[in-house]
This record gives sequence, C-alpha cells and structure tokens, in this order.
Amino acid sequence: MPTVEWNRKAWGKTHSWDQQGDEWSFMASHCGQPYGKWKASLVETLLVPGASRGPSLEIGPGHGRWTEHLLEHSPGVWIVDVNENCLDHCRERFADRPGLRVHHTADCGMDPVPDASIAFVWSFDVFVHLDPDVVTGYLAEMSRVMAPGAGAVIHHAGKPDWTLRLSPLTRRTGRPGRIAQRWISQRRWRDDGNRSDVSPEAFARWAEANGLEVVEQRGSWGDRGQHTVAKYRDSITVLRKPA
Ligand SMILES: C[S@@+](CC[C@H](N)C(=O)[O-])C[C@H]1O[C@@H](n2cnc3c(N)ncnc32)[C@H](O)[C@@H]1O
Repeated sequence: MPTVEWNRKAWGKTHSWDQQGDEWSFMASHCGQPYGKWKASLVETLLVPGASRGPSLEIGPGHGRWTEHLLEHSPGVWIVDVNENCLDHCRERFADRPGLRVHHTADCGMDPVPDASIAFVWSFDVFVHLDPDVVTGYLAEMSRVMAPGAGAVIHHAGKPDWTLRLSPLTRRTGRPGRIAQRWISQRRWRDDGNRSDVSPEAFARWAEANGLEVVEQRGSWGDRGQHTVAKYRDSITVLRKPA
C-alpha cells in the first residue's frame, strides 16, 4: 500500500523528474497515442473548462506538469504537496506568475485554504497512489474549500470493487496471493503501478458521504475515446459541490 511515507520518498527523493512530469508518457503509449496529443486533449477536455471558472487548487503538483495550464486559465492557483522540494521547484518555475499560493501538507490537511474559496480542484497521477484514509481526508477537505457549484477532476485508482473484497483472502497466501490479486483487480501479473486499493464505487461513496455529487466517472476522453488511463485500470471522477 503506498503510504504517505512511501509517497514522500518516491517523489521527494527517488524520482529524478527528468522532464518535470512529462517523463510519464506510458499512459499515452499504452493507448497508442502520441504523448503531446494525449496531454493536450486531457488539458482541453478536463482541465481548461474547470480552471476557467475561478480560483483553482491542485493536489500533488510535482514539478508543475499541470500547474502550468491551471495558471494559464485560472485567476489564482493553490498547490498542496507532501514534498517541500516539489513545492520549491514550482515556486521557482512559476516565480514570474502572479496568483500561485503554496501549502506543504503533512498528509491531507489544507488549513490555510479558506472555506468555500475554490471553484475547481484538479489532481492527476496523485490519488492513484493514496491510501483510502488519505483519499477520504482529502474529500472532506475538498468539500470544505470548494464553493457552492465548484467542480473537481480527480484521477484515482480504479480497481473493481468486488476484487478488493477478495484481498483479505489473497493477502493471507503471500506472494502467489499478491500476484493473483494483481491479475484479478488490474489484469496485470506484475507492475501494479503502485496503485492503492481504491475502486470507482468506493471513491463515489466517499465523495457523496462528504457532500460532493458525482457528475461522471470515466477512463477515456477524446472524440473517439482514444485517450485513456487504462494502463493500470485507473478512473477519473468528476465531482460537483451542490450549489
Ligand atoms: C507521481 S507525482 C505526480 C505529479 C504531478 N501531478 C504530475 O502528474 O506530473 C505525485 C505527486 O503527488 C505528491 N503527493 C503524494 N502524496 C501526497 C499527498 N498525500 N498530498 C499531496 N501531495 C501528495 C507527490 O509529492 C508528487 O508531487
């Protein structure tokens, strides 16, 4: 399970950030699309419409792969990360852009972000690595900071709900059990992408329990649905805070 500690080490110490996040082109190659087109289409379809609505908040900006686009379309952007060095990189990269606010969180707290101040929350390639307690903590905080009518786009793990119910059994059988579980829940024998044990159904239940409406859950976009987050069976949930 990717704990907060694991996330601090993986992205704060181990990862080399060769291309400020653009090194993660495997989602595009998995669906047979050029990375530039895949990224531009994701920005155009799911980021720009939200960011244009008002002040935005990004959870887990890393080195600013999506922050750049949020800053272009939003009047102000909060970024929240567990790694101070990622935030430092963004501070430096976007030093000449007014409107960037930064918060270093211990896990999922966003205390400095005022209540009902945010029109759009964005997080990509972050929740896929967050354990359920951190996901639910963030959903509670999102509900607090989102203004009535605000939207959110969150990319998270999409293991089918029923497969997660098997994991107490498969865990008991050691390595063979882990391999079987990976196959059952992600159709992969190895390399689970460090995905957390989260299903689209659970994410929707937790969001609704925190007062957020689920607008849609999807794994693809583009005029032919050609762009996907299917490599590890991920899901993207679009949320709305009721007006
Ligand atoms: C795989 S990187 C993705 C970065 C960026 N979103 C992108 O797509 O290029 C994961 C990012 O999430 C951050 N992160 C991990 N756990 C977090 C948490 N609990 N709260 C906020 N940020 C977190 C990491 O420090 C890192 O910046």
